[in-house]
Formats: sequence, C-alpha cells, structure tokens
Amino acid sequence: MRVLLVGSGGREHALAWKLVSSPRLTELHCAPGNPGIAALGQCHPVRADDVEAVLGLARALRVDLVVVGPEVPLVAGLADVLRSVGISVYGPSRSAAAIEGSKTFAKEVMAAAGVPTAAILDEPVAPCVLKADGLAAGKGVVVCRTQAEVEAGLAELAGLGDALVVEELLEGPEVSVFAVCDGVSAVALPAAQDFKRAYDGDDGPNTGGMGSFAPVPSIHGDELERLVDLTCRPVVAELAARGHAFAGTLFAGVMLTPAGPRVLEYNCRFGDPETQSLLPLLEGDLLSMLADAAAGELDPGSVGTRSGAAVTVVLAAGDYPAGGDRGSAITGIEAAEERGALVFHAGTALHDGLVVTNGGRILNITAVGADLAEARVAAYGAADLIQWDGVRRRDDIALVASGPT
Ligand code: AMP
Ligand code: GLY
Repeated sequence: MRVLLVGSGGREHALAWKLVSSPRLTELHCAPGNPGIAALGQCHPVRADDVEAVLGLARALRVDLVVVGPEVPLVAGLADVLRSVGISVYGPSRSAAAIEGSKTFAKEVMAAAGVPTAAILDEPVAPCVLKADGLAAGKGVVVCRTQAEVEAGLAELAGLGDALVVEELLEGPEVSVFAVCDGVSAVALPAAQDFKRAYDGDDGPNTGGMGSFAPVPSIHGDELERLVDLTCRPVVAELAARGHAFAGTLFAGVMLTPAGPRVLEYNCRFGDPETQSLLPLLEGDLLSMLADAAAGELDPGSVGTRSGAAVTVVLAAGDYPAGGDRGSAITGIEAAEERGALVFHAGTALHDGLVVTNGGRILNITAVGADLAEARVAAYGAADLIQWDGVRRRDDIALVASGPT
C-alpha cells in the first residue's frame, strides 16, 4: 500500500515508525513530515492544514490510504474532501471531528449518549472550569478555584471570541483512553497518561505535553474495556445514529473522580505525546488495522498488546512553552538509539546534514521495559545522552506510577 501520513510532530514520527514495519507498506509519504520521518519515507513540503494541497498530493501520488495525525485538518474537513474523490482516509469527517472541534457539540453528544461528564453550570461561579467552544491548541480551558480566577479567565477567553461552556470542577487523576473506530465498532488501545504542565510536580504553565507513559497500571484487561464501553462506544453509536460515522481514533480525556470516571473532553485523533509510548507496545500490523478501520471493516483481533510498559520523555527548548529554540546543534541522538531507545523528532531541522533544534518541543525519547520503572530508567538513561544548549525536560515523568524506587 502507498500511504500518505499528514502531520509533522513526534506523534507522526511514531506513526511512521510503526507503519514502516508493516509488510503491506510499499511507499510512505508524509506532508510535511520532519527530519526523523524523512529517514523512513518521503517528505513533501505541503502543510498539514492546507486541505487543497494535501488533496493534490494524495492524488498525484495515487495513495491507497491517508492517515491524518493532527486535529486541525480533520476539523477543517480534510477527510471529507479526500473521501469525496474516492481516497481512503483514517480520520473522521468534519461533522464527526466536531466532537473535538466544538465543546458544546461534545457536551450535547455526551448527554444524548449517556456518557458521564462534568455538569454544566449556569453561571461562572468558582469553583468551576471555563472552556472556549472551538479548537484553541490547549489554551481554551481555564480551571478556576477562586472568583478572581473566574474573572481573569473570562477576560482571557473573551479574546478568543468563542461561545463559552462553564463546568463543574472535578478532581482526580487523568487518563487518556484511545479507541480505533471504523464508524460502528471501537477497539481499545492501551490507556496512557500524559504530563501537560511544564515543570516537575505538575507545576507551571500548560504545554503540548512533556512526557507520557502507557499502560496506566490500574487500567488493563476488563477495566480498560469497561472504560471504553463507558466513554467511547456510546459516542461512536450516537454519532453513527446521527449520520456522522466516526472512522479514526476517538481519544477520551478522562478524570478518575471519587464518584467514577468522567469525560473531560474528546479528541478526534491520536494523542501527542501518548502515541509515542503507546505504539511501541502494539504487536501486529497497525497499517492493516488503520486501513480496515478506514474501510469500515475493523478486525478486533488484528493488533495485540505486548507485556511491559513504555515511557516517553520530551526534550524541550529552555524557555518552552514561552518560546522555542532554533538552529542549536543536537548531539547524542545515535548514542541514545544505540542504547535501545526510540528518538522521535518533533521540532527539529536539518542544517548541512546536522540535526538542529527548530521549535518548542524538540525530541521525544521513548523506551520500553518489563515494567514502568524499567522503561523509565531506560528512557532517562537515553535522554541523558542527548544535548544542546539549553535543553530542558521534566525529571518526574512516570515517577509516581512506577511505584517506590
Ligand atoms: P480539556 O482541553 O477539556 O482536556 O482541558 C484541559 C485540562 O483542563 C484537562 O486536562 C484538565 O486537567 C483540566 N480540566 C478540564 N475540564 C476539567 C474539569 N471539569 N474539572 C477539572 N479539570 C478540568
Ligand atoms: N496529549 C494530549 C493531546 O494530544 O491532546
């Protein structure tokens, strides 16, 4: 199969790495990709959110399947445009992607499907959570414990110009639940956890994610199926009943509250950086699974999960998330790979054949081990070998879940 992968981050590098292990893959193309992906397939200078240009590329390459990584092109209708000309796509239509693209739509679907979620409040009174309706790249949610935070949050979100949802503030650990869906059925992948805050101890501003691990120790086997039954399958059924069949990854952000699991949000795609920890745990042919899902013929047995665990540590620019780093030479990638780690590129560029920094989150270092503690030691051991001026990371990724050391 000729495959076009859309996107350019660490998630897409992990997808590319897994897809090239498929015996069915003949050519991998990426729009636009990154230097890590360029070692696995052919990268094309086409922006992921330029729907017309991606369509043109997919046609010119006569690809058999397009796999879409990020949400922006999905919410903009990339999958519809491709399907309308007969190209198979792993990724939901615009109307199904609205489960991520509109918080009010997601709330309405959850209510109709009977999915437990935070209650909607009539007034913005602390404690509460304020959410802007549309996609806001992680900046559309303000958790308010005091009325002063409510006032500041209202002022901040007013700038986005979207409708506002006010929710009950919930407490508890968060997990990322992933299901591969074909419009009708949903197959669970290992649950993962990401680390959104910039600094150790969950301190500092929100980021795109500073690390991840999978699986979540308390969620395996029957417990995982129960969680997918509760959070994903009713939504897939509800969307199908409305004529918005969801074919792609349904990702539920779930808080495990004392009163039970509550969905905080849905995403219409794989998580970043959860995917970097998740894919190395899958056994079997991911390409077949995604192609089957795109064709509406998902086989629940096509991909299995190996034992063990994976941990991903993000190496970021010194002042990320406030800023990024451009052009600093990166050393140690090969040494880290020789230790058995996977190094997924997120914000890098090539200068005269050398890998240099080019963004906020620069690299993801992923390692697999017999358990989380072993994977964690391996990931940090490999991350220690990679250097550039100002490299920064969190040192507590997967620390608590690894148990006493
Ligand atoms: P979302 O984009 O909806 O996942 O929100 C981003 C983050 O805000 C989540 O990962 C939570 O940490 C937090 N959050 C969202 N909704 C709630 C809620 N109802 N109660 C507490 N925290 C929340
Ligand atoms: N890691 C959270 C996300 O991808 O939205």
